[in-house]
Amino acid sequence: MTSSLKGKKIVLGVSGGIACYKAVELLRLLVKEGARVFVVMSRNAKKFVTPLTFEALSRNPVYHKVFDSADSASMEHIRAAEAADLLVVAPATAGTLGKMAHGLTDDALSTLFVAFRGPVLVAPAMNDGMYDNPAVRANIETMQSRGIGFIDPEVGSLACGVVGLGRLAEPEKILAAVRDRLARAWDLAGRQFLITAGPTREFLDPVRYISNPSSGKMGYAVAEAARDRGAQVTLISGPTPLKPPPGMRVFACKTAQEMRTLVLDHLASTEILVMTAAVGDFAPEQVQKEKIKKQGDEPIQIRLLPTPDILREVAKSKTGQFVVGFAAETENLVESAREKLLKKDLDMIVANDVSAPGIGFQSDTNQVTFLDRSGTVEQLPLLSKREIAHRLLDRIAAKLSSNPQTGS
Ligand SMILES: Cc1cc2nc3c(=O)[nH]c(=O)nc-3n(C[C@H](O)[C@H](O)[C@H](O)COP(=O)(O)O)c2cc1C
Repeated sequence: MTSSLKGKKIVLGVSGGIACYKAVELLRLLVKEGARVFVVMSRNAKKFVTPLTFEALSRNPVYHKVFDSADSASMEHIRAAEAADLLVVAPATAGTLGKMAHGLTDDALSTLFVAFRGPVLVAPAMNDGMYDNPAVRANIETMQSRGIGFIDPEVGSLACGVVGLGRLAEPEKILAAVRDRLARAWDLAGRQFLITAGPTREFLDPVRYISNPSSGKMGYAVAEAARDRGAQVTLISGPTPLKPPPGMRVFACKTAQEMRTLVLDHLASTEILVMTAAVGDFAPEQVQKEKIKKQGDEPIQIRLLPTPDILREVAKSKTGQFVVGFAAETENLVESAREKLLKKDLDMIVANDVSAPGIGFQSDTNQVTFLDRSGTVEQLPLLSKREIAHRLLDRIAAKLSSNPQTGS
């Protein structure tokens, strides 16, 4: 099997934390996969591991001094580093994260980061108190909003002697993230995505509503994956406990009617619409102004009327947008999804069987089937929602590049 890293130029940025020794192992793994690695060290990283170790393993000069007559005069390897396919900073200390978030330069690593134009991955490592600090959290969010990818630290014994969240992710995990990031290039750069997510709530009275168990995880995963591939994302979200992802415009709504208004308002500026939201099909005919009182054992009757069919309205008003629908079914999965694809004039539909245990609503994994207008039916194995999101975007990117008229 040929490695996905063969011939790739990777800059490994190392800052001054106890996990520096793991950067040595990461370098070894990257080199073993065929990558050409240039190591850049912060001034303080040299107190933990010598440049010589990285130089010997990478077989390339290590950039660690900004003001060095040899380095500064022949900037060749620095330029090579700047032109690399990826910069991965591991470990990233709290101090280095702060400098990166604010564009401050005081050593070789922070200077190279500011000059670097390609994709960046960051693997933080610090004690749990530092990782929890609001300033550190804010720096991470700032960087995420600029499209920088993070490999979250793990829970484990920390150098300070406690067990907590902050230990550098294992080198194999960082290697997997590097492969993943390089395999998924910046292929949706500038594309305008509109994504709906989560459930809707149809109110009976001020405190009661009809809803469904959708968690919003699938839609948020699509939104984050599209953002990470360079898209401009607008996320319209029904009520979910999920935090609004950084780096995109997020609009919150509750009812199907509110979601409809937001979708139609943004449709004209959209190229790709992905409707993952589990929009309620029925809403009470009237929303009572006051809380409905229980009348002893008397049954109450609530008349439900169909909610607006957002996909049908989109089909009527669209002007070349690429539209993907989601179908949550409990029977005849493929047939029902195909019928919806044609009836709602969709370009693609993602069908999932919500009756199967452990998949669909709420869970972090899902098993879906992609159907498109050409009749292709592709059944995917059980995957994380993040992976499904990327596979969906792979299909969308391929369709957009084979038909440049679509979505514009
Ligand atoms: C033994 C030791 C271990 C350290 N480990 C970490 C660490 O894991 N994460 C971190 O953010 N800082 C750690 N520090 C503190 C950093 O070295 C310090 O904040 C330094 O200024 C970081 O510089 P740099 O980010 O420019 O490399 C450690 C310090 C010492 C003395």
